Amino acid sequence: MCAGITPGYDDATGVLQVTQGRKLSRETEALLSASNEARLEAIGEDYWITYTLAQQTLLRLSGMVTAPDSGRPANMLLIARTNNGKSSILRRFAEKHTPALDASGGVVTRPVVSVEMPPVPGEERLYTSVLESLGAVFKPRDTVDVKRTQVLRLLQGVGCRVLVVDEVNNALSGTPRQQQQVLNAIKHIGNTLKRPVVLSGIETTAAILRQDPQMQNRFPPHELPLWQEGPDLQRLLMSIEGRLPLREESRLHQKELLTLLLGMSEGMIGELVTVLRRAATMAVVSGDERITPELLSRLDWQSPSQRNARAGAIGMGL
Ligand SMILES: Nc1ncnc2c1ncn2[C@@H]1O[C@H](COP(=O)(O)OP(=O)(O)O)[C@@H](O)[C@H]1O
Ligand SMILES: [Mg+2]
Repeated sequence: MCAGITPGYDDATGVLQVTQGRKLSRETEALLSASNEARLEAIGEDYWITYTLAQQTLLRLSGMVTAPDSGRPANMLLIARTNNGKSSILRRFAEKHTPALDASGGVVTRPVVSVEMPPVPGEERLYTSVLESLGAVFKPRDTVDVKRTQVLRLLQGVGCRVLVVDEVNNALSGTPRQQQQVLNAIKHIGNTLKRPVVLSGIETTAAILRQDPQMQNRFPPHELPLWQEGPDLQRLLMSIEGRLPLREESRLHQKELLTLLLGMSEGMIGELVTVLRRAATMAVVSGDERITPELLSRLDWQSPSQRNARAGAIGMGL
């Protein structure tokens, strides 16, 4: 295999001298001796990285599942810039509370029901999304009243303990009346079930809720801020490095690389994951086997705002 080709990596003894200091996950460590193809495939795969705020958020969300029924449940408005980890946390939450099935595979209980606000918002469309998410048989042409009743009955029937509505910012594309109707529908579901509701979206979502003072009060914002320099970011970078099957240590959390990566990602975890995926790919293909400032400069990476500016210029025919 590649013994001797990669400095510091000894295939014969399996000793990973240069990996000291970084903590590779067990699967990643096993991959170090695999072919480039296998390592590139692993780099391209989605993986979950835990970080302090994600853990805290998941803890709060799990608390909602176990909380007793309440006329004033502890709801949450999850707010963050796009690409900053909201949907990933919500997916992780749903995965931790999967439906219970009976012997024939039928759903008995579904503690977490997740939907996305439809791109064209409206009360009826929201109900349709819930019915689809539940895999319910329904008549698309049924009236909004019939669908509302069916949604409530089914949510109670499957023992829904938390309803999650992601992409609430989509409601902004509706008229003020449609927005109000959607908010009323959500309020009505929460009140009837006596269960918490989680709304999630980009910053503009808060403006939608401000239209209804009661909603604003009942949905305290829980923000995932942009990443900044500090120990949390260092830990995040160490965790990501622990998932990259590179044969040498990059020490992504060191000041120079951390500052560069923060600039390239503009503080968004999605950008960070993408830039490191591309960098790790280059590190395998080029044989560098680690990510360095010099390798990052060869990536031809455009930061999100450079991309947006470019897209804007193209849109204006410039
Ligand atoms: N905890 C995480 N672990 C690994 N990758 C993540 C994590 N959070 C976000 N990402 C990456 O960032 C991308 C954008 O995250 P996402 O949750 O979709 O953001 P948002 O919903 O805020 O727009 C995801 O596709 C994933 O690649
Ligand atoms: Mg999202």
